[in-house]
Amino acid sequence: MTRKPNLDTIPREYLRSPLIRTVLITGAGRGLGLEFVRQYSAAGWRVFACARTPAKSASLTALVQGSAEKIIVHALDVTDHAAIDGLSRRLADTPIDVLLNVAGMQASSGFGKSNYQVWTDAFRVNVLAPMKLAEAFVAQVAASDQKKIVTLSSTLGSMGDNDSGGLYGYRSTKAAVNAIMKSMSIDLAARGIIAVPMHPGWVRTDMGGPRAPIDVQTSVAGMLRVIDELTQAQSGKFLTYTGATLPW
Ligand SMILES: NC(=O)c1ccc[n+]([C@@H]2O[C@H](COP(=O)([O-])OP(=O)(O)OC[C@H]3O[C@@H](n4cnc5c(N)ncnc54)[C@H](OP(=O)(O)O)[C@@H]3O)[C@@H](O)[C@H]2O)c1
Repeated sequence: MTRKPNLDTIPREYLRSPLIRTVLITGAGRGLGLEFVRQYSAAGWRVFACARTPAKSASLTALVQGSAEKIIVHALDVTDHAAIDGLSRRLADTPIDVLLNVAGMQASSGFGKSNYQVWTDAFRVNVLAPMKLAEAFVAQVAASDQKKIVTLSSTLGSMGDNDSGGLYGYRSTKAAVNAIMKSMSIDLAARGIIAVPMHPGWVRTDMGGPRAPIDVQTSVAGMLRVIDELTQAQSGKFLTYTGATLPW
């Protein structure tokens, strides 16, 4: 039987080692999250791949099997705050260089067509979850070498870029998470932590759809480069996958 590394099968010494670059990724079962898992593990990083239902993702399972235990899978619904606290306790001694909030959901609606339940759910996933994850894992990030918190946002959250209206639900969640990341960049600067919201481009995933001009490989390769080169001076800026700065 093939072994699937998880927190119960990985030796504690491995989890504690500060010598291995470590990233924790949410929404790791498909789309941009899955590609982040692929590219970070290929670059030799230890990857905590958090997916709502890992068993549902054959691609993640295949990646894990070929990863020589570099990818450690954990089932995590990001709206479950008790589960986030539980994972943080289990990783209490593990420095996390990059906390990467990728999980997200659409809540697009035109004026007069608001679905307030979907909008509320999207707030829990797109806004409250990145905040909760940052609060739960701040000590592990502060204990790491790179000390970065990155949340996937969208140009649709930009006021300056909004010349087409609509999309009230999704736009408002991404604007809200931008505000959160900006405050974090100020509040956590004294601990050496860099915090940025990042726009991945319009990417061909389930969310981006087949007409999107950018493939996941290009978007994630760009974001990896930008994250790798992030400096404290860039903390609190709204960046694209090419490293350009977007207007709020
Ligand atoms: N694609 C684009 O063009 C684009 C553009 C701008 C910004 N973004 C942002 O980039 C991020 C990733 O988008 P994507 O295109 O990869 O989207 P996607 O293909 O629709 O994937 C969404 C991911 O979020 C996860 N997720 C949703 N709700 C969750 C929950 N409650 N707990 C845990 N995971 C949850 C999904 O897990 P399940 O498989 O369990 O549903 C899935 O892994 C999102 O934040 C999105 O807003 C994307």
